[in-house]
Amino acid sequence: MKNEATNILTVDNLKLHYSSAKGFFSKKEIVKAVDDISFNLLEGETLGIVGESGSGKSSICRLVLNLISKSSGKITWFDKDLDTFNKKQMKEFRRKVQIIFQDPYGSLDPRMTIGSIIKEPLDIFNKKFLKKEKEKIITELMNDVGLSNELFNRYPHELSGGQCQRVGIARAIINKPSVLICDEPVSALDLSIQAQILDLLKNLKNKYSLTLVFVSHDLSVIKSICDNVIVLRSGKIVENREVNDLFRNPENEYTKKLISSVPSPIPLKR
Ligand SMILES: Nc1ncnc2c1ncn2[C@@H]1O[C@H](COP(=O)(O)OP(=O)(O)OP(=O)(O)O)[C@@H](O)[C@H]1O
Ligand SMILES: [Mg+2]
Repeated sequence: MKNEATNILTVDNLKLHYSSAKGFFSKKEIVKAVDDISFNLLEGETLGIVGESGSGKSSICRLVLNLISKSSGKITWFDKDLDTFNKKQMKEFRRKVQIIFQDPYGSLDPRMTIGSIIKEPLDIFNKKFLKKEKEKIITELMNDVGLSNELFNRYPHELSGGQCQRVGIARAIINKPSVLICDEPVSALDLSIQAQILDLLKNLKNKYSLTLVFVSHDLSVIKSICDNVIVLRSGKIVENREVNDLFRNPENEYTKKLISSVPSPIPLKR
């Protein structure tokens, strides 16, 4: 990572508060899912977001993608406030910033073939392509994500978890996004498959010049793929540091506890 990298996305004082009543007569409680957070996303980096369950990781992803409305704060994409985007700008933003999810099966439509699942975003955003051109793009992409072309006419239930996650990745990158948000993409997979998917993401990041936001509750996964890391606790950022620096000199007590709870020694980032 070079220091002069462009800042592509800025989050300022972002808040997401839910109000919930526990019972009919009880007072409403405010859940501060995201509680006044600010950070930058630099072009080409892999930014990790780590924190225990319920710390607000997925909420941040959904807010950044504009899938849910914030309570307050500002999100800026290349110096332009997301709130000022018209329909066309928002559609382009949605093409540029994509997401893959934790549950490889659940995120794919069970009634669609693998080929049509991968092709769908191409149909939405790139109507100009001819059938033959689309086939070529999909064949190359399936190859890039390590899926045999024989799987084109199969259904999600016929695939393994790792293969389904590869389909999700192919679908997310088919329109050449600049940012890929990965919300716990390997948490549901076996250890050996986790390593393969992490390697795949690293390779695709280089080949497709992606900027990654990588969410995990697993510090060893974060350590193996991220450049910078945000440590999140109860909707607040407790540390935002370069990855090796964070692991060598954690400043916050909560980060120290997280690091000491990792069972095996964590290899340094290559
Ligand atoms: N629709 C909602 N209504 C009320 N509270 C919500 C809602 N969505 C999320 N929350 C709360 O916001 C907090 C943050 O949730 P979020 O899903 O962002 O956490 P997370 O870090 O992704 O957790 P996990 O590791 O389990 O995926 C939690 O306390 C959650 O219960
Ligand atoms: Mg989550």
